[in-house]
Amino acid sequence: MIVLGLSGSLTHDPSAALYIDGELVAAAEEERFLRDKHAKRKWPYHSARFCLETAGITPGQVDRVAFPFAPMGLGYAGRWHFARRYWYAPDRAFNVLFNGNRLFRRNRRAILKLMTDIGIDPDRTPFVPVPHHLAHASSAYHLSGFSGRAAVLSIDGKGEYATTLFGYAEKGRIHTIKEFYDPDSLGGVYGAITQYLGFEMLDGEFKVMGMAPYGDPRRFDFSPLIRYDARSFTVNTRLVNTVGLRRYKQDGIGYYFSPRLLDWLGPKREGDEIDDPYIDHAAAMQKLLEDVSLGLIDTYLGDIIRETGQLCFAGGVALNVKLNQKIIALPHLKELFVQPAASDAGTAIGAASYVANAGGDRVEKMTHVYLGPSYTTEQCRAACEAYPEKPAWEIVDDAPAEAAALLADGNPVAWFQGRMEFGPRALGNRSILGDPSQPGIADRINAQIKYRERWRPFCPSILDRAAAEILQTDHAAPYMTFAFTVAKAWKERIPEVVHEDGTARAQVVSRDTNPRYYALIEELEKRRGIPVVLNTSLNRRGEPIVCTPEDALDMFYGSDLQYLFMEDVLVRKDPADEGGMG
Ligand SMILES: [Fe+2]
Repeated sequence: MIVLGLSGSLTHDPSAALYIDGELVAAAEEERFLRDKHAKRKWPYHSARFCLETAGITPGQVDRVAFPFAPMGLGYAGRWHFARRYWYAPDRAFNVLFNGNRLFRRNRRAILKLMTDIGIDPDRTPFVPVPHHLAHASSAYHLSGFSGRAAVLSIDGKGEYATTLFGYAEKGRIHTIKEFYDPDSLGGVYGAITQYLGFEMLDGEFKVMGMAPYGDPRRFDFSPLIRYDARSFTVNTRLVNTVGLRRYKQDGIGYYFSPRLLDWLGPKREGDEIDDPYIDHAAAMQKLLEDVSLGLIDTYLGDIIRETGQLCFAGGVALNVKLNQKIIALPHLKELFVQPAASDAGTAIGAASYVANAGGDRVEKMTHVYLGPSYTTEQCRAACEAYPEKPAWEIVDDAPAEAAALLADGNPVAWFQGRMEFGPRALGNRSILGDPSQPGIADRINAQIKYRERWRPFCPSILDRAAAEILQTDHAAPYMTFAFTVAKAWKERIPEVVHEDGTARAQVVSRDTNPRYYALIEELEKRRGIPVVLNTSLNRRGEPIVCTPEDALDMFYGSDLQYLFMEDVLVRKDPADEGGMG
């Protein structure tokens, strides 16, 4: 069966994913093609066409179009919960009861139009809606490769109405144990505090998580934000997850928190440099998320975890690597699988895998995220020749060895190879690399290109054979979805990729999934004695990860980076160097 999954149901992170007979053959996020981070209010036209072209199929061959958003009947508890909790905004409460599927109908119209526009006939190819959290859950469970029973968890801002799903899966079927509904949303509260701390919701959550280790969670008691016990939680909408007249407004923008939050905590954070007391707010928020999540996990999933040791997790909150570190540390947990594209981009994979599975296909275990476009050396060379800046380029025999030599000399290197990653992390195919054993390399990368807030640590890619010693665990970690505490002896050897709290958000690299990247790290190991490279995504601050060779050249010439590899093409900026042919 051929299933095309499309996302974009909640006005951000549109994407497409294609399953053929249970195999995920292509997936990409629309932001990469549009060069517009999160591609808000866009639909996945480019990504859908890319998937079909890559698979070499015509639009008419698609059997189903799967979409991660479904209509909810009037008997659905989430609508009544929403109506009850939004009594203070009567228009919304009224709407949810009398017109509760308005967003679904808008989504459906847009997707049917997209299908028609790209040549898929909606009269012949069914449009199949999948409840949002089941799509997240499927993107974790069906791709985990777990056999037997497994606990399933999905936490995000919100889908149709649900914000959190606890369940279990067995023999290919996902069963819901408990759902929580808007406005009772852990992702929503984290997002609201993200806004309060001066970052963008659905984007800056990583920065809040990165800020947290600098602060002291005991300096503020954040329990007024969420009332919780072991079985349930209720968000205080007088402070956060606030709508309508309760919202704080500034320069015509409404925020998801109230003026009352400012009366309590002080003014909203502005600018990059202010620390105190905001680092303590970040620490308190992170702790509250961990406390509530771990409590509910124990209540609803504890028995299954004790029985099977397996948990799969998706939804935007599943990208919180510090929460994941605590989950992995639970006494009976043997394996945590987090869908690497845990936020809404991944729901295209989730909806498609759900529909493929329901249609009888055996969905394959996910082994990598290299699912996007790729370009040959010839195409990279042609891009250089056509580029207005007339790059000095050469073809090299052994790009991994050449790159390693430049890294060992203390240079940051832009590294572009193979198929673009799906999901928020660059995992060696669209990356900026550095030698993490050289103090100051993170500052050099920041000075040359990234200009990242210091809250955001740089991360390591580690050879699989060395990972257990460095990370003190043999838990699988191929996608930078977990933080681990770095062994004491290694902290001094790779200081540039260890965060304030002594952890690293690592990618463990295997030769099978990325032989060329593996070779590069081995070459660096030969020169510097460390089986680790610093890896950050190939983009400038605020931009999506690069997709094409032209994007890479734009980024390269818009930065102070000196070296760019694209397949076997090496582009240098230093005019003193020999070997330029272009
Ligand atoms: Fe979601």
